[in-house]
Amino acid sequence: MDSFTVRVEKLVYGGEGLAYHGGKPVFVSFVLPGEVVDVFPIEESRKFIRALPAQVKEAAGERIAADCPYFGRCGGCHYQHLPYERQLEVKRDILHETLRRLGKIERTEEIALHASPPWHYRNRVQLKLAPHPVAADRLQVGFHRAGSRTLCGIEQCPISSPKLNQLISVLNRLSAEGALPLSLRAAEALADDRDHTLWLTLAAPQLDFDRAALAERLRTELDGLLSLQSVETSTERTETDGLGWIYYQVGAERLRVSHASFFQINRHLLPVLVERVTQNLEGKVALDLYAGVGLFTRALARKFARVVAVESSTAAAADLAANVADLAGVETRASSVLDFLRQSPEKSDLALLDPPRCGLGRGVAEALNELAPPRLLYLSCDPSTLARDLARLAPHYRLVGLELFDLFPQTFHIETLARLDRAA
Ligand SMILES: C[S@@+](CC[C@H](N)C(=O)[O-])C[C@H]1O[C@@H](n2cnc3c(N)ncnc32)[C@H](O)[C@@H]1O
Repeated sequence: MDSFTVRVEKLVYGGEGLAYHGGKPVFVSFVLPGEVVDVFPIEESRKFIRALPAQVKEAAGERIAADCPYFGRCGGCHYQHLPYERQLEVKRDILHETLRRLGKIERTEEIALHASPPWHYRNRVQLKLAPHPVAADRLQVGFHRAGSRTLCGIEQCPISSPKLNQLISVLNRLSAEGALPLSLRAAEALADDRDHTLWLTLAAPQLDFDRAALAERLRTELDGLLSLQSVETSTERTETDGLGWIYYQVGAERLRVSHASFFQINRHLLPVLVERVTQNLEGKVALDLYAGVGLFTRALARKFARVVAVESSTAAAADLAANVADLAGVETRASSVLDFLRQSPEKSDLALLDPPRCGLGRGVAEALNELAPPRLLYLSCDPSTLARDLARLAPHYRLVGLELFDLFPQTFHIETLARLDRAA
């Protein structure tokens, strides 16, 4: 399909602008409402076209120059061409619209917004490594290109912390020296709250390189590297050199976070998030469902006599158990939330729900409707699955508050806290 010209109507969830071409929806990245843009299609189905901008012919007045030299090529950021305050408004409007469209939830009152420092906020980075397009003895370090699985090589990432940028420089330098094994395909790192220490996970189909030599070189170049894990993706064998985790301080709590455990990625907003989620709570029993390493569990234990924390991932469940071992009132369950709710349903004053992007699903929503905790707190990283789940809970629960935490500035991602009370 050839290039064509569209006028962008609005921004939609996913970071793209919505336009129409011959009546068909066109989703275009890196554009703004009102802009007239020449686009080239990268995907076409019966229902829609996905496109990238070739030339912005009429730019919106609010368009700004992006800070990052890779913006528009790298697939990691979506909104650098929009002032940060406007990004927040766009996300709030998209949240409103998604709840209305998919959840039939009409809310007129304001959604409380929690802004983040817009740059260098990420404590975690997932880098791709691929053969260098021109130098056969080197690897390229970067992220997927927008709309593609090919690599956009980078030297820096302005939304990542300084320590993670140090890592990106080190990987590029080792690659240029031929010291990075050519079989590596991914590198993931988590830096602590002070941006001092970190763990690093390297992945390759075969661990066919001298791991000890690489570990020594990385330790020399990268101060604070506490743990290096190598993952053989063809067999899932892992080899760990070091502790296996780092410690992350959030407010008064210190949490162990292992290589394979989930952890929230915004290093600035974490204390605010924990504070807001656990504010004005009290009671006898709380359920912390999808508990991860226990980010909220310890804070809940200050307010409830008993907390039951449920987490299914092996790594995170082990961290969780270690992180609450000193708290007499906390019990942990290494289980899926659905199994937990079906097999050992437990009366509680509150259930905190923090599921992955796919949301609760029908089974968990039904089990909660039946179990009937008087209060639910639902922390969501995807407004569409949140809307669908709220509709499933709606016969029994009333939405009484919404807050948007901008854990992911410059990107389309939206983190929402929904407060629900059991309907009388
Ligand atoms: C969005 S994270 C939240 C973790 C934690 N509340 C936090 O904020 O750090 C979701 C967590 O749920 C876990 N998980 C995913 N599916 C699950 C399931 N069906 N049952 C229990 N835990 C699950 C994941 O391993 C992950 O740790």
